[in-house]
This record gives sequence, structure tokens and C-alpha cells, in this order.
Amino acid sequence: MENFKVTSSTKEEIYKEIIPQIEAILNGETDLIANTSNFCAMLKEAFDFWWVGFYFVKQTRDSRQLVLGPFQGPLACTRINYGKGVCGTAWKQKQTIIVPNVDEFPGHIACSSLSKSEIVVPVMRNGEVVAVLDIDSKELNTFSFTDKEYLEDILGKINFDF
Ligand code: SME
Repeated sequence: MENFKVTSSTKEEIYKEIIPQIEAILNGETDLIANTSNFCAMLKEAFDFWWVGFYFVKQTRDSRQLVLGPFQGPLACTRINYGKGVCGTAWKQKQTIIVPNVDEFPGHIACSSLSKSEIVVPVMRNGEVVAVLDIDSKELNTFSFTDKEYLEDILGKINFDF
């Protein structure tokens, strides 16, 4: 098993340090659950975020929904409808959403009352959203353009065998 090492202190430096490690670790494996699980673990360890996890787009009886996948952090809601909450909105808009203060996002779904800010990055394959990565912080204003750029980049490159 390869080591995962984080020694930097600024956010940008941490991303630069961990992205090659994430790629190396995940590209040796093709399994979706294994890779999304380790992806969450590495981001949580690197930044100590409050909640890091995936929701996968899944066909249910009469519609498609986001269904909870691998995550690190407290108990979370299991299903989110298209266009609902930050996750469902990122799915609908096919773009990353940064929420500096969750209390100011209309329709925000509060899985943990301690979450204060959030970023949701859609995972795109062939022009369609197949999953979203959701990260929550216990502090306000945690996420910036830096997170958006690095997270979109790494999610586009790594081997998630959807
Ligand atoms: N806050 C999200 C729901 C998922 S939890 O934060 C883990 C939303 O509004 O979509």
C-alpha cells in the first residue's frame, strides 16, 4: 500500500502536493466504490473538512435521484432530487456551486446543523453528470475558486469506473 503524505500548509500547496498522490493511488484501481472511498479519505485527511462525500446519479422507479455514496463524516441524507439542495442544483446546472454561508442558500438541505459552508462539484462523463462531490465545512467561507479549479481538475482525470 502506498503512503499518503501531506506536509504543506496553504490550501494551494496542499492541492499541489496531494493531486499527484491521489492520481497514483486511484489509477492503480478501477473499482468505483474503492476509488471514491479513498478519494474522500484523502481529502478529509489533507484538509480536515467536516464532511466529504459522493452522491451518485441513479435511476429509481420513476425518476433519477442522487443517492448517497462513499463519504467521510457524520450521518447524511441518502437521497436528493434533481434541482433540490446544493447537490441537486449543481446536478441541474452542470456546474460547481460554492456556498459561502449555507443559511443563505435557498433550499439548502441541512444534513448536519454544524455545516456552515459547502462546495459541490459535479462529476461529468460524456457531457452528463454521473455523480457530485460534496464537501462541507464547519466554518463560513471555506471554499474558493482554488478549490473549484483543483477539484474539477482531479475529478476529470481520475479513474472512476462509472
Ligand atoms: N447540503 C447538501 C446535502 C448533502 S449534505 O450536506 C451531506 C445539499 O444542500 O444538497
